[in-house]
This record gives sequence, structure tokens and C-alpha cells, in this order.
Amino acid sequence: MTESPIERLARMREESLQGGGVARIEAQHKKGKLTARERVDLLLDEGSFVEIDRFVTHRCTDFDMETSKVLGDGVVTGHGLIDGRPVFLFSQDFTVLGGSLSETNAQKICKIMDMALKAGVPVIGLCDSGGARIQEGVKSLGGYAEIFWRNTQASGVVPQISAILGPCAGGAVYSPAITDFICMVEDTSYMHITGPDVVKTVTHEEVTSEELGGAEMHSFTSGVAHFKSPDDSACLALVRRLFSFLPLNNAEDPPFSDTSDPADRQEQELDSIVPSDASKPYDMHHVIRLVVDEGSGLEVHASYARNIIVGFARLGGHAVGVVGNNPSVLAGCLDIDASIKAARFIRFCDAYNIPIVTFEDVPGFLPGTAQEQGGIILHGAKLLYAYCEATVPKLTVITRKAYGGAYDVMGSKHVRADLNLAWPSAQIAVMGASGAAKIIHRREIQSSSDPAALEAQRAKEYEEKFNNPYMAAENGYIDDVIEPRLTRPYLIRSLELLKSKVEPLPERKHGNIPL
Ligand code: HXC
Repeated sequence: MTESPIERLARMREESLQGGGVARIEAQHKKGKLTARERVDLLLDEGSFVEIDRFVTHRCTDFDMETSKVLGDGVVTGHGLIDGRPVFLFSQDFTVLGGSLSETNAQKICKIMDMALKAGVPVIGLCDSGGARIQEGVKSLGGYAEIFWRNTQASGVVPQISAILGPCAGGAVYSPAITDFICMVEDTSYMHITGPDVVKTVTHEEVTSEELGGAEMHSFTSGVAHFKSPDDSACLALVRRLFSFLPLNNAEDPPFSDTSDPADRQEQELDSIVPSDASKPYDMHHVIRLVVDEGSGLEVHASYARNIIVGFARLGGHAVGVVGNNPSVLAGCLDIDASIKAARFIRFCDAYNIPIVTFEDVPGFLPGTAQEQGGIILHGAKLLYAYCEATVPKLTVITRKAYGGAYDVMGSKHVRADLNLAWPSAQIAVMGASGAAKIIHRREIQSSSDPAALEAQRAKEYEEKFNNPYMAAENGYIDDVIEPRLTRPYLIRSLELLKSKVEPLPERKHGNIPL
């Protein structure tokens, strides 16, 4: 009996679902990894996936490649829904030639990226690939560059998220690097420019892939990864959660999510959370948790540059980006890594209409040769630039220290924050009292019969004059000094008021952020 056209379609469709075949699927599972299609199913709302280009095959005729054509050519592409909201995605299939990128495979990815940009819908890439398909040479390299170009065109227009779920090596890492967020999986994913063998040849270092580019390294040391998960399914659940904070594109507001947490909730614990001894740390994560909608926080870069906290949360159901100095790490000082981390986060929020709420307790930029030689001037300027440039609603709460240049940088009124609040424990000054006394009263202290007593007295005078919020309040640099327990209601009222905020920028091609 001859096959009918409908039967042929069914057979081919079935064939396209097989990827590289049963043995390779088993091998994938043995490594603790899911297949490309299993990942798509976990990421999207059930039954919502619409596949595009399932019948595409490669065109390579070198190295006997005509004999190894697989429908779909090693990448599953299409669109679907996450919590009912649309998303385009591609999922590299390691079971087909190691998920390597061919000319046609790249064209499939580019097609969905073009559609996403036209439709104003985010793109999620699930990466698991041996890199450029070696048999195709420069055609594969060209394919990568086409993707990089589209990543750049889409940047700031539609959110782009990369989940790294296997190898990601060579120039291939630069597509995820241009996207907004990189999520990695412990033990099974890695990203590096050159693998351990090349490293050994060039630098004589002996390293493993894990040490060179594993999730641990990129989460703690390099900061390349924003999130780290124990396995594929946890990673995909995290991507869904991240997606819930993001608008579909830069012309939309982020989604509102109703909350049972009262907008006027007063949190008594906040009134006593800041220790009276200014050198004692406290938990800024806890402060943030007490203020935002219950259970709404999603920390970004949780393990990297822990002296600053960044992440998404909700206030009265509105998505916000939270930035907080962390007095428990490096006393909350701003260093190179913290500046870059927060600058990137603020720019993301600004691009996608997500208001920025800053909790400030910062003694200044971290002093020292390591920081100066590493270019803290340049990198600290990134954070300053990001705050100055951001036109989304900016709300700042000074909980304790706001010293020196860091006062200016961290969402001060002068960089056009919309609401600046201080707690009564706030200290807004050029520097700490004892340092200030030593400098401005040096001669007097040196010539005193009891220099230590005089220094302490002068420090106390300085502290009384400057180390409180009232001089800043007198000048209108902060809008009010409030009881800490009222922080949540104040922030929510202001956010609602500022929903219609418009702040035009001068016309230009683009600014020149100090990179
Ligand atoms: C073609 C590839 C491939 C590639 C893997 N395969 N990588 N085919 N091009 N780049 C094939 C293998 O031949 C094998 O086919 C199958 O995929 C699975 O690979 P294995 O090696 O068996 O898997 P595993 O042991 O898990 O090792 C995975 C790996 C390794 C570490 C990724 O395959 C590897 O080192 N591949 C080469 C990586 C690389 O150098 N790529 C080029 C990077 S440069 P069979 O038929 O046996 O199952 C680059 C430049 C991009 O990407 C530049 C952009 C600007």
C-alpha cells in the first residue's frame, strides 16, 4: 500500500522527533541532561509549543555529510507560552552532531530571532552545543556572526535569556554573553573561549573544563553567569520565574501580579534593625525581604560581588529592580565587581521599564592599590553613568551610611532619583567622623597635649553635625526622614504615582558609557 500524503507527513514528523536516535538520547540522559525537546516541554506551558522548521536539513556535501542528515539539523526552534505570555525559543540538540552549529541550523535560529524582534516578543536560547560544525568551516562561523548581530539588534528591544545546559565553547559563548541573562547548570554546563587542551598548549596550565568554565566558576569568580541551578529542570523553572518579571518588549510595562500582602503593611522589626554601632553589619537581604511583597524576591548574581545585592521583586504587585549595599560583605563598599554588576542590572531595568529601588548603606568606594590598578575609576563610573542615564522611576532609601562619592552614585537626588528617603539612622557625609576629624583638625590635634581625647571630641562634633540625615533634609536632598517601618507603604505609594513618569533624554545616536 502506498503512503498517503497525510501518512507521509505523520511519518516525517515522527522522524523529526527522534533527534540523533535512541542511543544518543540515552547517552544524554546518562550525563544527567534532558533532551532538547524535553527541555522545551518543561520550559513552556503544557501543549503550547509551536515548532518552526522541523524539516530543515543541512546542505553540506563534504566529509560524507550527505549520509548524516537529520530532520531539524540539531536545533529545535519555535514559539510557545510561559504563564500564557508568548516567547520565541531555540533548543540545541546535542544528540545531533553534538548540537553543532551549521549554516542551516544558524538560519533556523536567525529566523525565530527576526520574528521575535518584529513581534516584540522575548527570545530564550537553550544552549547545548559542541560549537561551530567543523565540517562546514566558515559557513558555520558566518552563521554565528549572523546570530551575534541579531542579539545586538534585539538588545534593549526584547529581553533575551540564555540557559547553558551543556558545552558552550569558542566564539559561541558570545551569543549568550550579549543576551541579558545567563543561567548555568552545575556539573553539566560550561562556557569557555578555549578548552583545557588549548590552555595546556599555550599556557602550560592543567585545568578541567569545570575549573575553566563551570557554573561554579562563572557564578562566584567571573560573574559571567547570573544564575546557577542544580539540574536542567531547576534551571528551566528559574527561567520561567525570571520571565515573570519581564515585559515582552521595551514598549511595554512589566506584568503586574496581584498580591495579598497589604500595601500599607508596617514592619516594626525595621525600626530596630540598624545597629547603633555604625561599624556593625546587619542583613540587608532581610531588610529587602521585609519591605517587598512576601516571597517575591529573585536575586540576580547572588554569589558574585556580594557587597552589592541586585534582584527583582514586587512592591504592591509592581515589578521592581532592587539594588542594595550589603554591609555584611566588605562593609558594603563599592568595588570594581560590584560597580559592574549593579551597573549592568540598572541598565537592564531601565531598558525594560522596571523601576529601580535602592537601599543604601555605603561607606564609599573600596580603597587600595588593587582597586586603583584595576581601574575602579573607570568601572565605578559605569555605575554612576547607569544611575544618571536611567529614566525609569528611581526610589532611594538611605538606611545608614551614604558617604562621599558613593552618596552621589547610589541613586541620589542629584542623579535624578524621584524619591529619596532616609531612616533616622542615616549618616550622610563626605566621610566617617573619625577620618574627617583627623583631616580637618590635624594641626590642632597634633599640637594638643592630649591628641586622642581631642580627636575623639572633634569626631563627635563632626558626627553631631553631619552624621545624620537632617543636613541633607534641610537642603531638600532627601525628601523625608521616615520611620523605617513605613518604608513599604511609602515606596508603593510613590511607585503608583510615578507610573506615568516621563523623562526625555537629549537626542543622540548613543551615549558612550565608560566601558
Ligand atoms: C561537528 C561535532 C562537534 C562539532 C561534537 N560533534 N562537536 N560535530 N562539529 N563542533 C559531534 C561528535 O563528533 C560526536 O559525533 C557527537 O557530536 C558527540 O560528541 P562527543 O565528542 O562524543 O561528546 P562528548 O564526549 O560529550 O564531548 C563534547 C565536546 C566535544 C566536548 C563538545 O565533542 C568537543 O570537544 N567537540 C569539539 C568542540 C570544538 O572544538 N568546537 C569548535 C569550537 S570553535 P558522533 O557521531 O560520534 O556521535 C567554535 C568557533 C565558533 O565554535 C566561533 C564563532 C565566532
